[in-house]
Amino acid sequence: MVKSINGLSPDIVVITGDLTENGFSAEYDGAKQFIDRIECKNKVLVPGNHDSKNAGYLHFEDLFEDRFSTHKLENVTVVGADSSQPDLNEGHVGRENYGWIREAFSGDDFKVFALHHHLVPIPFAGRENPVLVDAGDVLNLLNGCKVNLVLCGHCHIPWVWNLNNMLVVNAGTICSSKTRGKTTQSYNLIEAEKGRNENGKWEAGKIESENWKVRVSRIFSEGNRELVAETVV
Ligand SMILES: [Fe+2]
Repeated sequence: MVKSINGLSPDIVVITGDLTENGFSAEYDGAKQFIDRIECKNKVLVPGNHDSKNAGYLHFEDLFEDRFSTHKLENVTVVGADSSQPDLNEGHVGRENYGWIREAFSGDDFKVFALHHHLVPIPFAGRENPVLVDAGDVLNLLNGCKVNLVLCGHCHIPWVWNLNNMLVVNAGTICSSKTRGKTTQSYNLIEAEKGRNENGKWEAGKIESENWKVRVSRIFSEGNRELVAETVV
């Protein structure tokens, strides 16, 4: 899988947790070694609920970066938010973070929000609640900021919803054996291209437009690729 990712020469790699099972130091060291093999200078990581067990978030901060982060690249802003809480499975972003998130998304970039827990329900996720407890308020926040893409992790189920022109993309698991149902290991490839969309006709390279053409594909361990969404947001 790492070889496959490196072969794509991605501009940004976003890892939405979990990196570990129990947040232990040795697990984090293994995760760091794995992530270091990914050849991309722009990596955005957020911890998951497993990573915050046993105060593991302290190792996350030592090895990676702040649990909340803003990354600005050419025409792209990625905000990563830690939705985990120590030793709890339920997630939240928290009202105290809404202000700086709104500020980070104040420009006209392609806007990406990354978190571990689910923003909206998806199928096959069981009956425990994997959705943020403040999901309604976060949805309202992101919709108001005209966020183009939300990236979630948690239940290892690859899925895509399109909500008010905001794609919500859940990741599967890239290398664990914790696949649910008939899913297999995969990661998402997201390609975004700026252009114009007038009268239903999309034209590349018209950069004065705010439209982005987004393609979401799943790439599986066998190397096969499945296009699952193609839309203008
Ligand atoms: Fe999780």
